[in-house]
Amino acid sequence: MDTADAILGRRSCRAFTAEPVPVDTIRCILETARRAPSGGNLQPWHVHVLWGERMREFRELMPGKVQSQPEGEGCEYHVYPPNLKEPYRSRRFKCGEDLYATIDVARDNRRARLAQFAKNYDFFGAPMALFFTIDRIMGPDQWADVGMFMQNVMLLLHDAGLASCPQEAWSVWYKTVGKFFSLPPQHMLFCGLAVGHADKSASINRLITDRAELDEFVTFVGP
Ligand SMILES: Cc1cc2nc3c(=O)[nH]c(=O)nc-3n(C[C@H](O)[C@H](O)[C@H](O)COP(=O)(O)O)c2cc1C
Repeated sequence: MDTADAILGRRSCRAFTAEPVPVDTIRCILETARRAPSGGNLQPWHVHVLWGERMREFRELMPGKVQSQPEGEGCEYHVYPPNLKEPYRSRRFKCGEDLYATIDVARDNRRARLAQFAKNYDFFGAPMALFFTIDRIMGPDQWADVGMFMQNVMLLLHDAGLASCPQEAWSVWYKTVGKFFSLPPQHMLFCGLAVGHADKSASINRLITDRAELDEFVTFVGP
């Protein structure tokens, strides 16, 4: 697949089929993705790949937890800056509106919105998940490196006919995730990534999110 086609074709998938993903496919993708650049070649990413029986065990843990503690366990970092300013605030708002419109959920239907959001904690039905962690000593530069690595993974998944959804929603369950994987205390959870085959019949997967025009974020200085 052409690189531009992969970038343009990848989308966050929020409904998966149960069809399993062979772990060798992910191994192969990670072998390639690790060629991502990183400052000083630190390669600050760590990944846990969850599937099969262990995946079933993990997903069984979640409904009870989400029901008894819907807000989660707290968070080790701000997923969004507090008091998000413009234009970011409006972009986030629009993304939410567009998402819920695909499933005919109105803005004031809080219960339905929460129910949709809670599907994060079932990986939207995906049979496999990756969890990305980073050493606590690392700063913004290395977090950016992990982002580049994740994008490699998502593009390679798309190229392999697989779908994915990055999930910072897991950051509020960092203790549960940490305990399940016996993460060393110096490791901090950044993000989950649901992986599988897209359910093509699901209306939520029809969402195509907006992007700002170039003149909103690019300054050409020249000639
Ligand atoms: C780091 C990161 C975390 C994200 N966390 C979530 C999440 O927890 N749940 C979710 O449904 N989407 C999540 N997303 C998906 C974004 O909403 C999505 O990337 C954005 O709206 C653009 O849409 P697209 O990925 O389909 O192009 C996340 C994306 C990124 C990059």
